[in-house]
Amino acid sequence: MTLPWKQLLLLSIIDYCLDSGSYHGPRWRMEPGDLFIPVDSIEEEATLTCDAKGTPPPQYRWSLNGTLINLGLDRRRRLSGGNLIISSLDRYQDVGIYQCMAYNTGGAILSRRASLQFAYLDHFKVHTRSAVSVREGQGVVLLCGTPTSSGDLTYAWVFNEYPYFVQQDNRRFVSQQTGNLYIAKVEPSDVGNYTCAVMNSITKGKVQSSPTSLILRTDGVMGEYEPKIEVNFPDNVPAAKGSTVTLECFALGNPVPEITWRRANGVPFPSKVKMKYSNAVLEIPSFQQDDTGGYECVAENKMGKNTATGRLAFYAKPQWIQTMKDTALAIEERLDWECRANGRPKPSYTWLKNGQQLLSEDRIHVEDGVLSVSVLTLADAGMYQCVAENKHGVIYFAAELMVLASPPDFTGNVLRALLKAKAGTTVTLECKPQAYPIASILWKKGNLPIHTNDRITLSPDGTLRLANVSKSDAGSYTCFARNRFGMSSTTGRLLVTDPTRIIQGPVDMEIIVGESIVLPCQVASDPVLDVSFSWAFNGQLIAKGDGHFELVGGRTAGDLMIRNIQLYHAGKYICVVDTDVESLSAVAVLIVKGPPSPPDSVTVEEVTDSTAQLAWSPGRDNGSPITNYLIQTRTPFTVGWQRVNTVPEIIDGNTLTATVVDLNAWVEYEFRVLAKNSVGVGEPSPVSVKTRTEDQFVGHALLLAPCEPWR
Ligand SMILES: *[C@@H]1O[C@H](CO)[C@@H](O)[C@H](O)[C@H]1NC(C)=O
Ligand SMILES: *[C@@H]1O[C@H](CO)[C@@H](O)[C@H](O)[C@H]1NC(C)=O
Ligand SMILES: *[C@@H]1O[C@H](CO)[C@@H](O)[C@H](O)[C@H]1NC(C)=O
Repeated sequence: MTLPWKQLLLLSIIDYCLDSGSYHGPRWRMEPGDLFIPVDSIEEEATLTCDAKGTPPPQYRWSLNGTLINLGLDRRRRLSGGNLIISSLDRYQDVGIYQCMAYNTGGAILSRRASLQFAYLDHFKVHTRSAVSVREGQGVVLLCGTPTSSGDLTYAWVFNEYPYFVQQDNRRFVSQQTGNLYIAKVEPSDVGNYTCAVMNSITKGKVQSSPTSLILRTDGVMGEYEPKIEVNFPDNVPAAKGSTVTLECFALGNPVPEITWRRANGVPFPSKVKMKYSNAVLEIPSFQQDDTGGYECVAENKMGKNTATGRLAFYAKPQWIQTMKDTALAIEERLDWECRANGRPKPSYTWLKNGQQLLSEDRIHVEDGVLSVSVLTLADAGMYQCVAENKHGVIYFAAELMVLASPPDFTGNVLRALLKAKAGTTVTLECKPQAYPIASILWKKGNLPIHTNDRITLSPDGTLRLANVSKSDAGSYTCFARNRFGMSSTTGRLLVTDPTRIIQGPVDMEIIVGESIVLPCQVASDPVLDVSFSWAFNGQLIAKGDGHFELVGGRTAGDLMIRNIQLYHAGKYICVVDTDVESLSAVAVLIVKGPPSPPDSVTVEEVTDSTAQLAWSPGRDNGSPITNYLIQTRTPFTVGWQRVNTVPEIIDGNTLTATVVDLNAWVEYEFRVLAKNSVGVGEPSPVSVKTRTEDQFVGHALLLAPCEPWR
């Protein structure tokens, strides 16, 4: 690197140390890509993109072939954001490898290397080409003599005049490597003028050679001869991973030789491999490591055979398999980063700090993909890049190292000003300041350093633990934290309280519907404690608004009053007592009793002129067993419901049928049943269907039935 970049970095480090505000080094949003510019569009501008984020926003520098571009004095080149814009392009001055550097007070990073090339195709030298004379049956090679160029070229040969092109077949072949035309065995029809036509696939520009005429010699015909391979591939062909590899092979001979291909290891070609132009071209798409090895082309005719061999060697640009992460470390700590990349050949590694290569020296150790820096200083902060390179490519990966240095700071982590703890419990007092490097900790109670023992312990992270605290532990505790940048402290007061006791809690009770009761919940507690009471009924917190419940009491009592208790109030009541330091509870089960629920399904089963048999089903007993049932009746002639006599006279709680007696004949009756328990008589059952008692004389009437007119 050149001097100006170094000076620049020195400045940014000084800034960093003066104000360690929240800087962030640059990160690439966009890096320059390779450019291939047609020479005929040289009037236009070329833009090499470069954009990075960072705080503060980064600035940019560019280098060409490793040398800083001094834009101050440049008329043709300027920056737009981070982009380098080159106008009035120059085929000689602008070609090369460009690299962008983004820098701010947080550091500097280098971009990928981007190449700028010009694509062009010069004209053929104008000179007449001497005629080529061959015997019929002989092979011939017509040279293209490609002019100087840059960018991929494609070749074709014009026969006699445009647009008649030489058609490739097993006898004729145009090499796309050399541009030459090969005729395996000349025939009289081949006589004519041949022009090599070249096209640049980037510029699309086309040029043509002057014609070469092919003439036949008249001194006889060439006899048969064995193949002679004229188009061959190199002994060693490097092939990039994923690329399409083409091998050419063509032979002269009489008769026209036949071309075949095989692999040296004998393994057949995978289906992706294609052969074209009568086997003169072998094409391997998406080249992989498996495709590596020896390839053999055999040209054969009846006179013999000829073989060409070569090796395809796999190569791959580096590709990351492990990279490092942005890291914040306290001053004096140690940095260990590792990066690794795939690639063939195996990549080698370098490390950059703010765009400058890092070399091992005292605290810094660089080896392969590993960087370690011991006893970090503020000046180690910045942007680091791991660079993996082999001869086919180079890749960069950036990460930021932040070095933290600050005095202890308890902000957001202070001790509680007043801490209450129940006697006998364990108290932990945390001391966790932010401090870089880590602070050493000292605890004091009042003005005296604390001595640790079985009961009072200090953990390495600075936490003080007091087991089985008693009133004598109460007092003011201060944690002092110190590192080489300063000292800070935090203080809190510890109050040790007597345990709270529930001196009167609710007890299990039986209550009768409609009554009101108070469930007591009274405590004895240390006067410094805040006490709060709450009640839960069958697992639900009792909300204030319920009409039946009311919380009564004061600081040490939280009684629950239940007014006009209902059957659904039966269940489990818990008084929960919360203080600053503890939580207690007391439980009671309430049983609510009431008169039985109404019996149901009253049916009239057998009716005579004075009796009716009833059956029913029981209702709930509501907490007290049903002692007996009462039956009431109603007729159109009575006012309201009236007791009736029954058999049995007293219907006990286990009996669910009874016969009503002393009824009048030929009257429509309704019945209902009531249940009684120790609490009282419950609501009546639903009313039975209306039932008419039999006529008193119905038996005789039936007997007298034949005397109908009398009736
Ligand atoms: C940059 O380097 C390449 C390769 O070495 C060279 O061809 C080119 O001319 C150089 N560019 C400049 C502007 O010197
Ligand atoms: C080949 O070119 C020469 C000279 O330009 C011309 O005289 C001759 O007729 C051409 N031959 C054919 C077959 O077109
Ligand atoms: C806790 O301390 C009290 C005295 O304050 C002592 O009587 C008791 O045995 C201690 N309990 C334990 C578990 O050490």
